[in-house]
Amino acid sequence: MARIDTETTSQIVKNHNGKPELLVQILQTIVTRFGWVPPETTRQLAEELNLSRADVHGVVEYYHDFRTKEPGKHIVKICQAEACQAMGSRQLTDHAQKTLAMSMHDTENNITLEPVYCLGNCACSPAVMIDGKTYGRVDESRFNALLNDLRGDK
Ligand code: FES
Repeated sequence: MARIDTETTSQIVKNHNGKPELLVQILQTIVTRFGWVPPETTRQLAEELNLSRADVHGVVEYYHDFRTKEPGKHIVKICQAEACQAMGSRQLTDHAQKTLAMSMHDTENNITLEPVYCLGNCACSPAVMIDGKTYGRVDESRFNALLNDLRGDK
């Protein structure tokens, strides 16, 4: 993903008519384009939208998708919602964390591991999303195979 710069941030604010009430949409646009919200972007948004840094920071912290750390090239999300939990997503999460040697929200070797709360694929639990593509009935061996595909694509 491209690196965010102050000019692009300003342009995104202008595209939303500089309206502070559109902060969530502005942040969504930034995360869609750049993958995360760096601290300097939080400061810039506060200045340009005439909000306090605490206001902007509070919104960034509230939403899971507004990452505050730069993600890896690949985003692996494991569903933690009820239907997936009933079908073993906690065990799958433990397996993923051990296999990748990292915790949720961490990034190692260009892979970011994150929780997600329902991918709309409950009938095929447990569900995983990798780089925007949803996979169902993911057991440990299927997870390993998906991971191998990612590692081959570094
Ligand atoms: S609960 Fe996991 S996809 Fe719905």
